[in-house]
Amino acid sequence: MVDRLKIAVLFGGRSGEHEVSLASARSVMSALDPAKYEIIQVGITRQGAWIVGADVLAALQSEAFEGTQPVALFPDPTRRGLWDIENLEESARLHLFSRVDVVFPVLHGTFGEDGTLQGLLELADVPYVGCGALASAVAMDKVLFKDVCKAHKLPMAAYVGVSRRRWEHEPQAVLDEIERELTYPLFTKPANLGSSVGISKCRGRSDLLEGLHEAARYDRRILVEKAVPAAREIEVSVLGNEAPSASVPGEVIPSREFYDYAAKYLDEGARASQLLIPAPISAALTEQVRELAVRAYRAIDGAGMARADFLLDGESGALYLNELNTIPGFTKISMYPKLWEATGIPYSQLLSWLIDLALDRHGENRRSERVYRPTA
Ligand SMILES: Nc1ncnc2c1ncn2[C@@H]1O[C@H](COP(=O)(O)OP(=O)(O)O)[C@@H](O)[C@H]1O
Ligand SMILES: [Mg+2]
Repeated sequence: MVDRLKIAVLFGGRSGEHEVSLASARSVMSALDPAKYEIIQVGITRQGAWIVGADVLAALQSEAFEGTQPVALFPDPTRRGLWDIENLEESARLHLFSRVDVVFPVLHGTFGEDGTLQGLLELADVPYVGCGALASAVAMDKVLFKDVCKAHKLPMAAYVGVSRRRWEHEPQAVLDEIERELTYPLFTKPANLGSSVGISKCRGRSDLLEGLHEAARYDRRILVEKAVPAAREIEVSVLGNEAPSASVPGEVIPSREFYDYAAKYLDEGARASQLLIPAPISAALTEQVRELAVRAYRAIDGAGMARADFLLDGESGALYLNELNTIPGFTKISMYPKLWEATGIPYSQLLSWLIDLALDRHGENRRSERVYRPTA
């Protein structure tokens, strides 16, 4: 029998989206083909500890950690795999540490989706699913992402980046600047967060003051953006490395005024936000969405996967790129895999594809020479 690939599935994490990650990981682990893959569950606690054990997912869910064991992945490619950090010498002598062929980070938000983990995985020289450190970090920072997309002439709602320090030191100048550049209603957002946390819709100056204050709780960097009128939320899945392709687009019908935290995760049953797949938009708009998604993905040097989210002006029909999510929600009923399913790639096959892409990108990176020896 061929040796199965050992896939370390990482979940949980030091992020506001800890629970969302557990739900995504449960789906991913139940669908990885057991004939091809051996799963190593690696849970990351809210404090950032890495643990393994028989059912780490259940341990994280119930926050009862008996029977789990701390492990570490070293940023040192000469010490590969997961190490039992309470018995380091012993595990080194007996080669007890666990081999890892591919890491599958199913972590949303900070310290999982933002390039920090990807940096560690680069140092450790282990193949991993999804975008690299650069693409992850750029996609996570809403201001930098927009700056990059602007350079690539992708259509976006008008925006202004604000630093928290400057906002605190010269609020009047900041307000004047925002009001000179943009017209109400506006959205204020912390630059590096997700799940709509810290986001406000502002209809006038007093809202804007509150919105900036709220966003500044979460980040040093703040994005202020013009609201897209009667916005429709169109999403499309992108998959691939050098030759990415886009799925059929879908539409989210939020259960609230906008797609806020409650609309994403709290409203259930008849009150829940709805996903329409495919999105009820024209063939021409469908093509435009798919093309822009791939262009944005290439602009940030995307790899593996990302979900591209657009806002469609319900009045004028203008389309705006809103963001790329490099580790989108991954439960079986999440938009990213559902869109691929509608495009003809079933969930399990999508996971295999992502693992192949991880190996491909790792191989491609390894082709680059790391040592330069001048000849003259
Ligand atoms: N410029 C905008 N115009 C209209 N609605 C917006 C705008 N920006 C954000 N929203 C609403 O807020 C939601 C969350 O904003 P988003 O930028 O996607 O942040 P997150 O990363 O938290 O998902 C969007 O899905 C949309 O409903
Ligand atoms: Mg969003």
